[in-house]
Amino acid sequence: MSHLITLTKPDDWHLHLRDGEMLRCVLPDSARRFARAIVMPNLPTPITTTELARHYRNRILQALPCGSGFQPLMTLYLTEETTAAEIGAAKASGFVHAVKWYPAGATTHSQQGVRDASRCDRAFAAMEAHGLPLLVHAETTDPRVDIFDREAVFLDRELSPVLRRFPRLRVVAEHVTTQQAVQFVRAAAPHVGATITAHHLLLNRNALFDGGLRPHHYCRPVLKREKHQLAVLEAAISGDPRFFLGTDSAPHPRRDKESACGCAGLYTAHAAIELYAEVFDQAGALNRLESFASFHGADFYGLPRNVGQITLTNSPWTVPASIPVGNDVVIPFRAGERIPWSIVAECIQ
Ligand code: DOR
Ligand code: ZN
Repeated sequence: MSHLITLTKPDDWHLHLRDGEMLRCVLPDSARRFARAIVMPNLPTPITTTELARHYRNRILQALPCGSGFQPLMTLYLTEETTAAEIGAAKASGFVHAVKWYPAGATTHSQQGVRDASRCDRAFAAMEAHGLPLLVHAETTDPRVDIFDREAVFLDRELSPVLRRFPRLRVVAEHVTTQQAVQFVRAAAPHVGATITAHHLLLNRNALFDGGLRPHHYCRPVLKREKHQLAVLEAAISGDPRFFLGTDSAPHPRRDKESACGCAGLYTAHAAIELYAEVFDQAGALNRLESFASFHGADFYGLPRNVGQITLTNSPWTVPASIPVGNDVVIPFRAGERIPWSIVAECIQ
């Protein structure tokens, strides 16, 4: 039976838009589905200052489809050199909404990230004072730790001490993937939240080896076993306002994914809200999708909820096999396969 659901226009609280030709190709997918997105700063030259964020924001606005009201919410890339003055400038700009902590070496373009968090105390203190959220890629880079345990170990060894030193710091544990991370957020203060991706809800680590090695399912944090997938699903559909939508859609050219040392990231922006609808529908929780996708994040960031709407229907469509970008392609999530939910285009406001 055909089913229509109308939601307040959602926001994506964790998105990689890249730059140049890739930006122009991927941006329309997010702009069609979301009113706003928190834009990650891990460009090859990281967005470490408010000035760089201002220019990057202008490039995004210039790449937007005509008439789109999509708002990019910018972030700064934290380094051990980030000063309190830079945090003050970010807050005063009005367009920088958070600061991203990448442990150096944890993921794409994180080399200039943080090696020793205690060297960031000046920045953390300024963020706490200004109420500027710290967004955390929670995976330890200690090579002795098993890769599937790196999130839990990071929360315990690295994030917990920062929260003890800065108890009023607003923190988002990004793309949580484990029971331990869900438990960590639940046990923390109300100003500690978490984003959840569609792919960590839809897949577990079996998807990395389904019939052979699957580079297009490799992301960081890496997919975990099923019990963790179920714990994250339970958090997403629970109605707890500290869990909200963040796709972590992260496009890479095919040659960089299908390589002897393939890079991390799934491209999901082409079907983002449809994939979350699929997850919530399968879990019998479609009535909780709107709060997860459209309310919890805005409330956490202290931004107004959107006024536009988007309507979805359970009519399936087939994802293209690839998306051309320059002289390469991006392989989208579920390439060539069906997605059960679609957008009723004429209802987008
Ligand atoms: O899978 C990922 N891809 N995880 C990240 O943290 C970064 C992202 C990227 O930028 O490609
Ligand atoms: Zn990311």
